[in-house]
Amino acid sequence: MDFSIKTFDAKSTVNATKTGCLVVGVFENKKLSASATALNGKGEVTAALKSGDISGKAGSSLLLRSLDGAAAERVVLVGLGADEKTVSDKAYLQAISAAAKVLSGLGASDAVIDLPIPQGRDLSWAIRSKVLAFHESVFRCDAMKSKKESATSGVKKVAFVVSAKEAAAAKLALAQSIALANGMNLTKELGNLPPNVCTPSYLAETAKKIAAEFKMGVEILDRKQLQALKMNSFLSVTNGSDEPPKFIVLKHMGGKAKDAPTVLVGKGITFDSGGISLKPGANMDEMKYDMGGAASVLGTMRAIGEMKLKLNVVAAIPTCENMPSGRATRPGDIVTSMSGQTIEILNTDAEGRLILCDALTYVERFNPAAVVDVATLTGACVTSLGHHNSGLFTRHDAAHDKLANELLDAGKQTGDTAWRMPIEEAYNEQLKSNFADMANIGGPAGGSITAACFLERYTKKYTWAHLDIAGTAWKSGSAKGSTGRPVPLLTTFLMNRAG
Ligand code: BES
Ligand code: MN
Ligand code: ZN
Repeated sequence: MDFSIKTFDAKSTVNATKTGCLVVGVFENKKLSASATALNGKGEVTAALKSGDISGKAGSSLLLRSLDGAAAERVVLVGLGADEKTVSDKAYLQAISAAAKVLSGLGASDAVIDLPIPQGRDLSWAIRSKVLAFHESVFRCDAMKSKKESATSGVKKVAFVVSAKEAAAAKLALAQSIALANGMNLTKELGNLPPNVCTPSYLAETAKKIAAEFKMGVEILDRKQLQALKMNSFLSVTNGSDEPPKFIVLKHMGGKAKDAPTVLVGKGITFDSGGISLKPGANMDEMKYDMGGAASVLGTMRAIGEMKLKLNVVAAIPTCENMPSGRATRPGDIVTSMSGQTIEILNTDAEGRLILCDALTYVERFNPAAVVDVATLTGACVTSLGHHNSGLFTRHDAAHDKLANELLDAGKQTGDTAWRMPIEEAYNEQLKSNFADMANIGGPAGGSITAACFLERYTKKYTWAHLDIAGTAWKSGSAKGSTGRPVPLLTTFLMNRAG
């Protein structure tokens, strides 16, 4: 997809626009927008609405060919709901996915889109929404198919119409939206790759490529270095696997040298069998997505790298496989984490927290402005929040409320939403162990909260937030695939921080 910004003026009017397809909005009240009025010379648009060929309901669409007085070969009308002044987010998103679908099936190679912005949203929201919708409509997961599903027809070039005074801002928003979409695509590709391809080493190679392309610093720590750092909790998870573990550190230093970095930590379990606490067989393949935190952190780094974001951001990714074997960690084993705290591993399937706790200790050395960890951490989070919101956990004081609100706001801005959950002393008691400083599970009640409470014990030295993306990182069933979430939330959070 190739995107650009277009403005109408006295010379290049909507009618004079030469394009394969012009997309304009229509409404249930049958009143026409300025562009639709201009194209309605012979009353064809009014007739389409009056006859009921198109209702104007959000997501409805109608293709008209060779409109009188229009230089465009085709005009696609898309419904945006009741009237031009009350366009909702939902109606707009339905309209642009309808447009993307129609355009993907046309013989035209280019299109010009002229739609009003919804109530309470701005230009960059509208541009980002369109770029992401078009990327979503053409995304194919064919990396492992012997025959690629190459799109033979369909629009390849799309221009968005803005007013002349908005053109400069629109171009910036477009470049940022494309960077975000490219980041999401990387996250989706990594997630969808099979676990025999997307190994810890593969993630490390991907980080190196991002570093080379976007001039970032990169360091890959191997088993020996992890042993020297005393990351025994992380290392206990990799014991049963023949794939070597990696610890990825990727640094985007876009801010001032002395500015404290914002740190992202991503869970990178490239396959979670459960280990000796083996998972049941049904849908176990989906545990290839257990590196969704790592993939979204890498996608976010790619996005901010392409944007040349003026902020210091460090990514830290512990990555390994969780497998059973004669060398695997047993339920009952006790390990000493890098922090010195001891952990009784009562369930080897609660492995995410075991790799994250050492990563959270490691990142203390960066004196972070804030640390956000991202993890497909608990099935319990899916039970409590479903597939719409990621779970957001922080301590409950002023500094953490501020960080939580930054993340919640970034989610609302992009439709990649999170919902705040509690961290309280009462839940912490469930982590008591008779034999070590803590157990790695807190029983069946409030599983996503006790997991967050476990992580919290390793984050006392900085401001920290945890995102549980178990319900949002991928879709199951016939639409099985990575969603690219929470790259929009994280990228926008960082963009807002950069100012
Ligand atoms: N990766 C899983 C969490 C998960 C499960 C995410 C299903 C999405 C769908 C995690 O490592 C895990 O297995 N968690 C256990 C924790 C339990 C043993 C305390 C879980 O959620 O069952
Ligand atoms: Mn697990
Ligand atoms: Zn897991």
